[in-house]
Amino acid sequence: MRLKITVLAGDGVGPEVTAEAVRVLRAVAGVYGHKFEFIEMPVGGVAIRETGEPLPQPTLDACLSGDAVLLGAVGSPEFDNLKPDKRPEAGLLKLRTALGAYANLRPAVAYEAVSDCSPLRAEVVRDADILIVRELLGGLYFGEPRGFSDETANPAAFNTMRYSAAEVERIARVAFEAARKRRRKVTSVDKANVLEASQLWREVVSRVASDYPSVALEHLYVDACAMHLVTNPRRFDVVLTENLFGDILSDEAAVITGSLGMLASASIGGRVGLYEPVHGSAPDIAGQGVANPLGAIASAALLLRHSAQMEQEARNIEAAVRAVLDAGHRTPDLQRGTGTAPITTSEMGSLVVKAFAEIVNARQAYHAV
Ligand code: IPM
Ligand code: MG
Repeated sequence: MRLKITVLAGDGVGPEVTAEAVRVLRAVAGVYGHKFEFIEMPVGGVAIRETGEPLPQPTLDACLSGDAVLLGAVGSPEFDNLKPDKRPEAGLLKLRTALGAYANLRPAVAYEAVSDCSPLRAEVVRDADILIVRELLGGLYFGEPRGFSDETANPAAFNTMRYSAAEVERIARVAFEAARKRRRKVTSVDKANVLEASQLWREVVSRVASDYPSVALEHLYVDACAMHLVTNPRRFDVVLTENLFGDILSDEAAVITGSLGMLASASIGGRVGLYEPVHGSAPDIAGQGVANPLGAIASAALLLRHSAQMEQEARNIEAAVRAVLDAGHRTPDLQRGTGTAPITTSEMGSLVVKAFAEIVNARQAYHAV
Protein backbone atom coordinates (compact mmCIF):
# COMPACT_ATOMS: atom_id res chain seq x y z
CA MET A 1 0.00 0.00 0.00
CA ARG A 2 1.09 3.56 -0.80
CA LEU A 3 0.73 6.50 1.60
CA LYS A 4 1.65 10.13 1.11
CA ILE A 5 2.38 11.61 4.53
CA THR A 6 2.91 15.34 4.98
CA VAL A 7 5.37 15.91 7.82
CA LEU A 8 5.11 19.24 9.63
CA ALA A 9 7.89 19.07 12.22
CA GLY A 10 7.26 22.62 13.46
CA ASP A 11 8.86 24.24 16.49
CA GLY A 12 10.82 23.38 19.62
CA VAL A 13 11.13 19.64 20.14
CA GLY A 14 8.83 19.00 17.15
CA PRO A 15 11.64 18.16 14.68
CA GLU A 16 13.37 15.78 17.13
CA VAL A 17 10.30 13.76 17.98
CA THR A 18 8.84 13.63 14.46
CA ALA A 19 12.19 12.39 13.13
CA GLU A 20 11.83 9.34 15.40
CA ALA A 21 8.20 8.80 14.40
CA VAL A 22 9.23 8.91 10.73
CA ARG A 23 11.98 6.36 11.42
CA VAL A 24 9.43 4.03 12.95
CA LEU A 25 7.10 4.53 9.96
CA ARG A 26 9.98 3.74 7.57
CA ALA A 27 10.61 0.54 9.53
CA VAL A 28 6.91 -0.36 9.22
CA ALA A 29 7.01 0.25 5.46
CA GLY A 30 10.15 -1.90 5.16
CA VAL A 31 8.75 -4.81 7.13
CA TYR A 32 5.29 -4.83 5.51
CA GLY A 33 6.33 -3.83 1.99
CA HIS A 34 4.39 -0.55 1.99
CA LYS A 35 5.52 2.58 0.16
CA PHE A 36 5.41 5.65 2.41
CA GLU A 37 6.32 8.98 0.87
CA PHE A 38 7.21 11.80 3.28
CA ILE A 39 6.81 15.45 2.27
CA GLU A 40 8.29 17.91 4.76
CA MET A 41 6.76 21.37 5.00
CA PRO A 42 7.09 24.31 7.43
CA VAL A 43 4.40 25.25 9.97
CA GLY A 44 4.22 27.47 13.09
CA GLY A 45 7.13 29.65 14.17
CA VAL A 46 9.52 28.10 11.63
CA ALA A 47 7.07 29.06 8.88
CA ILE A 48 6.64 32.60 10.24
CA ARG A 49 10.41 33.08 10.12
CA GLU A 50 10.59 31.74 6.56
CA THR A 51 7.47 33.26 5.03
CA GLY A 52 5.74 35.55 7.55
CA GLU A 53 2.79 33.13 7.82
CA PRO A 54 2.22 30.34 10.38
CA LEU A 55 0.48 28.19 7.74
CA PRO A 56 1.86 29.07 4.27
CA GLN A 57 -0.34 28.14 1.31
CA PRO A 58 2.12 25.51 -0.07
CA THR A 59 2.05 23.77 3.32
CA LEU A 60 -1.73 23.72 3.36
CA ASP A 61 -1.86 22.51 -0.27
CA ALA A 62 0.55 19.68 0.55
CA CYS A 63 -1.58 18.65 3.54
CA LEU A 64 -4.78 18.66 1.52
CA SER A 65 -3.28 16.63 -1.31
CA GLY A 66 -1.73 13.94 0.90
CA ASP A 67 -3.25 11.00 2.78
CA ALA A 68 -2.37 12.13 6.32
CA VAL A 69 -0.47 14.79 8.23
CA LEU A 70 2.09 14.06 10.95
CA LEU A 71 2.80 17.15 13.04
CA GLY A 72 5.43 17.76 15.73
CA ALA A 73 4.54 20.91 17.65
CA VAL A 74 3.97 24.63 17.15
CA GLY A 75 4.75 27.53 19.45
CA SER A 76 7.78 29.59 20.35
CA PRO A 77 8.33 32.20 23.08
CA GLU A 78 9.69 34.73 20.55
CA PHE A 79 6.14 35.16 19.19
CA ASP A 80 4.41 35.43 22.58
CA ASN A 81 3.64 39.11 22.12
CA LEU A 82 1.88 38.75 18.78
CA LYS A 83 -1.92 38.90 18.49
CA PRO A 84 -3.51 35.41 18.64
CA ASP A 85 -4.19 35.33 14.88
CA LYS A 86 -0.52 35.96 14.01
CA ARG A 87 1.03 33.43 16.37
CA PRO A 88 2.37 29.96 15.47
CA GLU A 89 -0.68 28.41 17.17
CA ALA A 90 -2.93 30.15 14.63
CA GLY A 91 -1.34 28.00 11.93
CA LEU A 92 -2.39 24.83 13.72
CA LEU A 93 -5.95 26.08 14.28
CA LYS A 94 -6.23 27.07 10.62
CA LEU A 95 -4.93 23.67 9.57
CA ARG A 96 -7.45 21.82 11.77
CA THR A 97 -10.22 23.91 10.22
CA ALA A 98 -9.03 23.44 6.63
CA LEU A 99 -8.82 19.68 7.15
CA GLY A 100 -12.29 19.59 8.72
CA ALA A 101 -10.78 17.66 11.64
CA TYR A 102 -13.56 18.12 14.19
CA ALA A 103 -12.86 15.04 16.30
CA ASN A 104 -9.75 14.98 18.44
CA LEU A 105 -9.00 11.60 20.01
CA ARG A 106 -6.53 11.63 22.91
CA PRO A 107 -5.93 8.25 24.52
CA ALA A 108 -4.42 8.40 28.02
CA VAL A 109 -3.21 4.99 29.10
CA ALA A 110 -1.35 4.13 32.30
CA TYR A 111 1.53 1.86 31.30
CA GLU A 112 2.31 -0.44 34.21
CA ALA A 113 6.06 -0.14 33.62
CA VAL A 114 6.09 3.61 34.25
CA SER A 115 3.38 3.81 36.89
CA ASP A 116 6.08 4.97 39.32
CA CYS A 117 6.67 8.06 37.13
CA SER A 118 3.25 9.55 37.78
CA PRO A 119 3.07 12.00 40.67
CA LEU A 120 -0.13 10.13 41.51
CA ARG A 121 0.16 6.96 43.56
CA ALA A 122 0.65 3.81 41.48
CA GLU A 123 -2.50 2.21 42.93
CA VAL A 124 -4.56 5.21 41.74
CA VAL A 125 -3.35 5.21 38.12
CA ARG A 126 -2.91 1.46 37.62
CA ASP A 127 -5.02 0.15 34.71
CA ALA A 128 -6.46 3.58 33.89
CA ASP A 129 -7.32 3.68 30.19
CA ILE A 130 -9.17 6.78 29.04
CA LEU A 131 -10.07 8.04 25.58
CA ILE A 132 -10.70 11.77 25.54
CA VAL A 133 -12.89 12.79 22.60
CA ARG A 134 -12.45 16.54 22.26
CA GLU A 135 -14.54 18.67 19.90
CA LEU A 136 -11.92 20.55 17.89
CA LEU A 137 -13.55 23.09 15.59
CA GLY A 138 -16.05 24.93 17.77
CA GLY A 139 -16.52 26.57 21.14
CA LEU A 140 -14.43 29.45 22.46
CA TYR A 141 -11.56 28.74 20.07
CA PHE A 142 -13.60 29.71 17.01
CA GLY A 143 -16.84 31.38 18.23
CA GLU A 144 -17.74 34.81 16.87
CA PRO A 145 -17.83 37.59 17.89
CA ARG A 146 -14.37 37.73 19.39
CA GLY A 147 -11.79 40.43 19.86
CA PHE A 148 -10.65 43.46 21.78
CA SER A 149 -12.95 46.41 22.37
CA ASP A 150 -11.56 49.78 21.37
CA GLU A 151 -12.48 51.34 24.70
CA THR A 152 -9.25 53.06 25.80
CA ALA A 153 -10.24 54.01 29.35
CA ASN A 154 -11.01 50.43 30.39
CA PRO A 155 -9.93 48.02 27.65
CA ALA A 156 -11.89 44.77 27.38
CA ALA A 157 -11.67 41.58 25.35
CA PHE A 158 -14.24 38.92 24.59
CA ASN A 159 -14.76 35.44 23.14
CA THR A 160 -17.88 33.46 22.40
CA MET A 161 -18.63 29.88 23.33
CA ARG A 162 -21.00 28.75 20.64
CA TYR A 163 -22.18 25.31 19.57
CA SER A 164 -24.84 24.26 17.11
CA ALA A 165 -26.82 21.07 17.67
CA ALA A 166 -25.26 19.58 14.53
CA GLU A 167 -21.73 20.22 15.82
CA VAL A 168 -22.52 18.54 19.13
CA GLU A 169 -24.24 15.61 17.45
CA ARG A 170 -21.37 14.71 15.13
CA ILE A 171 -18.76 14.67 17.92
CA ALA A 172 -21.12 12.79 20.25
CA ARG A 173 -21.47 10.07 17.61
CA VAL A 174 -17.68 9.70 17.44
CA ALA A 175 -17.60 9.19 21.22
CA PHE A 176 -20.42 6.63 21.27
CA GLU A 177 -18.97 4.70 18.33
CA ALA A 178 -15.60 4.57 20.12
CA ALA A 179 -17.22 3.51 23.40
CA ARG A 180 -18.97 0.63 21.64
CA LYS A 181 -15.56 -0.86 20.85
CA ARG A 182 -14.24 -0.21 24.37
CA ARG A 183 -15.85 -0.52 27.82
CA ARG A 184 -19.16 1.03 26.68
CA LYS A 185 -19.27 4.10 28.86
CA VAL A 186 -19.36 7.75 27.82
CA THR A 187 -18.83 10.56 30.32
CA SER A 188 -20.02 13.82 28.76
CA VAL A 189 -18.36 16.82 30.39
CA ASP A 190 -19.96 20.26 30.46
CA LYS A 191 -20.81 23.22 32.68
CA ALA A 192 -24.59 22.98 32.24
CA ASN A 193 -25.22 24.51 35.68
CA VAL A 194 -23.94 27.84 34.29
CA LEU A 195 -23.60 27.89 30.49
CA GLU A 196 -26.34 27.80 27.84
CA ALA A 197 -23.88 26.25 25.38
CA SER A 198 -23.50 23.38 27.85
CA GLN A 199 -27.26 23.00 28.27
CA LEU A 200 -27.63 22.46 24.54
CA TRP A 201 -24.61 20.15 24.62
CA ARG A 202 -26.21 18.00 27.32
CA GLU A 203 -29.57 17.83 25.55
CA VAL A 204 -28.06 16.77 22.23
CA VAL A 205 -25.70 14.20 23.80
CA SER A 206 -28.64 12.63 25.68
CA ARG A 207 -30.62 12.40 22.47
CA VAL A 208 -27.72 10.78 20.57
CA ALA A 209 -27.27 8.31 23.47
CA SER A 210 -30.69 6.80 22.74
CA ASP A 211 -29.25 5.46 19.46
CA TYR A 212 -26.61 3.55 21.47
CA PRO A 213 -28.52 1.53 24.07
CA SER A 214 -25.48 -0.65 24.84
CA VAL A 215 -23.43 2.37 25.94
CA ALA A 216 -23.93 3.93 29.40
CA LEU A 217 -23.97 7.72 29.48
CA GLU A 218 -23.17 9.92 32.46
CA HIS A 219 -22.96 13.72 32.59
CA LEU A 220 -20.33 15.41 34.70
CA TYR A 221 -19.54 19.08 35.32
CA VAL A 222 -16.06 20.00 34.18
CA ASP A 223 -14.83 20.97 37.66
CA ALA A 224 -15.92 17.63 39.11
CA CYS A 225 -14.38 15.83 36.13
CA ALA A 226 -11.05 17.57 36.76
CA MET A 227 -11.10 16.21 40.29
CA HIS A 228 -12.17 12.65 39.41
CA LEU A 229 -9.46 12.42 36.73
CA VAL A 230 -6.75 12.51 39.36
CA THR A 231 -8.57 10.85 42.25
CA ASN A 232 -10.20 7.95 40.41
CA PRO A 233 -9.14 7.83 36.74
CA ARG A 234 -10.30 4.21 36.40
CA ARG A 235 -13.95 5.32 36.52
CA PHE A 236 -13.57 6.78 33.00
CA ASP A 237 -13.76 5.07 29.63
CA VAL A 238 -14.61 7.65 26.94
CA VAL A 239 -14.67 11.31 28.00
CA LEU A 240 -16.63 13.48 25.56
CA THR A 241 -16.16 17.22 25.81
CA GLU A 242 -16.02 20.59 24.07
CA ASN A 243 -12.89 22.25 22.74
CA LEU A 244 -11.47 24.26 25.66
CA PHE A 245 -12.48 21.78 28.37
CA GLY A 246 -10.87 19.03 26.30
CA ASP A 247 -7.66 21.04 25.92
CA ILE A 248 -7.38 21.42 29.68
CA LEU A 249 -8.55 17.96 30.71
CA SER A 250 -6.26 16.19 28.24
CA ASP A 251 -3.15 17.80 29.72
CA GLU A 252 -4.44 16.82 33.15
CA ALA A 253 -5.06 13.25 32.00
CA ALA A 254 -1.41 13.09 30.98
CA VAL A 255 -0.36 12.76 34.62
CA ILE A 256 -1.98 9.33 34.59
CA THR A 257 0.47 8.15 31.95
CA GLY A 258 3.51 9.36 33.86
CA SER A 259 4.54 12.05 31.38
CA LEU A 260 2.94 14.43 28.92
CA GLY A 261 5.55 13.14 26.46
CA MET A 262 3.63 9.88 26.13
CA LEU A 263 0.33 11.26 24.86
CA ALA A 264 -0.67 10.90 21.23
CA SER A 265 -3.56 12.41 19.35
CA ALA A 266 -5.58 11.95 16.19
CA SER A 267 -7.67 14.75 14.69
CA ILE A 268 -10.14 13.18 12.32
CA GLY A 269 -13.53 13.65 10.71
CA GLY A 270 -12.37 15.40 7.54
CA ARG A 271 -10.86 13.82 4.43
CA VAL A 272 -7.26 14.05 5.70
CA GLY A 273 -6.38 13.17 9.31
CA LEU A 274 -3.87 15.08 11.44
CA TYR A 275 -1.71 13.27 13.99
CA GLU A 276 0.38 14.95 16.67
CA PRO A 277 1.74 14.37 20.14
CA VAL A 278 -0.12 16.37 22.79
CA HIS A 279 3.01 17.74 24.50
CA GLY A 280 3.67 20.91 22.49
CA SER A 281 6.97 22.54 21.54
CA ALA A 282 8.69 22.49 24.99
CA PRO A 283 11.19 25.24 24.05
CA ASP A 284 13.05 24.81 27.36
CA ILE A 285 14.37 21.38 26.33
CA ALA A 286 14.44 21.80 22.52
CA GLY A 287 17.57 20.81 20.60
CA GLN A 288 19.08 18.80 23.45
CA GLY A 289 18.01 15.34 22.30
CA VAL A 290 16.17 14.68 25.56
CA ALA A 291 12.51 14.94 24.48
CA ASN A 292 10.39 11.82 24.77
CA PRO A 293 9.46 10.68 21.23
CA LEU A 294 6.88 8.11 22.37
CA GLY A 295 3.93 10.52 22.00
CA ALA A 296 4.98 11.21 18.41
CA ILE A 297 5.57 7.51 17.73
CA ALA A 298 2.19 6.60 19.20
CA SER A 299 0.67 9.32 16.97
CA ALA A 300 2.23 7.57 13.96
CA ALA A 301 0.44 4.40 15.10
CA LEU A 302 -2.85 6.31 15.22
CA LEU A 303 -2.13 7.61 11.71
CA LEU A 304 -1.82 4.07 10.37
CA ARG A 305 -4.97 2.98 12.20
CA HIS A 306 -7.27 5.88 11.28
CA SER A 307 -5.95 7.08 7.92
CA ALA A 308 -4.77 3.78 6.39
CA GLN A 309 -6.77 1.04 8.16
CA MET A 310 -3.44 -0.63 9.06
CA GLU A 311 -4.63 -2.02 12.39
CA GLN A 312 -1.98 -4.73 12.64
CA GLU A 313 0.85 -2.29 11.94
CA ALA A 314 -0.54 0.18 14.50
CA ARG A 315 -0.86 -2.52 17.16
CA ASN A 316 2.69 -3.68 16.59
CA ILE A 317 4.03 -0.14 17.05
CA GLU A 318 2.04 0.12 20.28
CA ALA A 319 3.34 -3.26 21.42
CA ALA A 320 6.90 -2.10 20.64
CA VAL A 321 6.44 1.02 22.79
CA ARG A 322 5.18 -1.15 25.63
CA ALA A 323 8.08 -3.59 25.24
CA VAL A 324 10.67 -0.80 25.38
CA LEU A 325 9.11 0.62 28.55
CA ASP A 326 8.83 -2.86 30.08
CA ALA A 327 12.55 -3.33 29.44
CA GLY A 328 13.19 -0.29 31.65
CA HIS A 329 14.25 2.31 29.06
CA ARG A 330 13.42 5.88 30.02
CA THR A 331 13.88 9.37 28.61
CA PRO A 332 14.57 12.06 31.27
CA ASP A 333 10.86 12.96 31.68
CA LEU A 334 10.26 9.40 32.96
CA GLN A 335 12.99 9.37 35.59
CA ARG A 336 10.97 9.90 38.73
CA GLY A 337 11.34 7.00 41.13
CA THR A 338 13.61 4.94 38.87
CA GLY A 339 17.32 4.38 39.11
CA THR A 340 18.03 3.79 35.42
CA ALA A 341 20.20 6.17 33.41
CA PRO A 342 18.18 8.31 31.00
CA ILE A 343 18.45 7.67 27.26
CA THR A 344 18.21 10.20 24.43
CA THR A 345 15.37 10.90 21.99
CA SER A 346 17.06 9.00 19.17
CA GLU A 347 18.09 6.07 21.39
CA MET A 348 14.44 5.71 22.34
CA GLY A 349 13.49 5.79 18.64
CA SER A 350 16.07 3.10 17.79
CA LEU A 351 14.83 0.87 20.59
CA VAL A 352 11.24 1.12 19.34
CA VAL A 353 12.35 0.27 15.78
CA LYS A 354 14.26 -2.74 17.09
CA ALA A 355 11.39 -3.91 19.30
CA PHE A 356 8.98 -3.51 16.38
CA ALA A 357 11.11 -5.73 14.13
CA GLU A 358 11.40 -8.34 16.90
CA ILE A 359 7.66 -8.39 17.50
CA VAL A 360 6.87 -8.82 13.81
CA ASN A 361 9.53 -11.54 13.43
CA ALA A 362 8.23 -13.40 16.45
CA ARG A 363 4.67 -13.31 15.05
CA GLN A 364 5.86 -14.52 11.64
CA ALA A 365 7.84 -17.36 13.24
CA TYR A 366 4.75 -18.30 15.25
CA HIS A 367 2.57 -18.40 12.14
CA ALA A 368 5.20 -20.44 10.23
CA VAL A 369 5.02 -23.41 12.65
C1 IPM B 1 -3.30 21.27 21.98
C2 IPM B 1 -2.61 22.60 22.05
C3 IPM B 1 -3.26 23.53 21.04
C4 IPM B 1 -4.71 23.72 21.46
C5 IPM B 1 -2.57 24.90 20.88
C6 IPM B 1 -1.12 24.74 20.51
C7 IPM B 1 -3.28 25.78 19.89
O1 IPM B 1 -2.62 23.09 23.35
O2 IPM B 1 -3.33 20.66 20.89
O3 IPM B 1 -3.80 20.82 23.01
O4 IPM B 1 -5.01 24.53 22.33
O5 IPM B 1 -5.56 23.01 20.90
MG1 MG C 1 -3.38 21.72 24.78
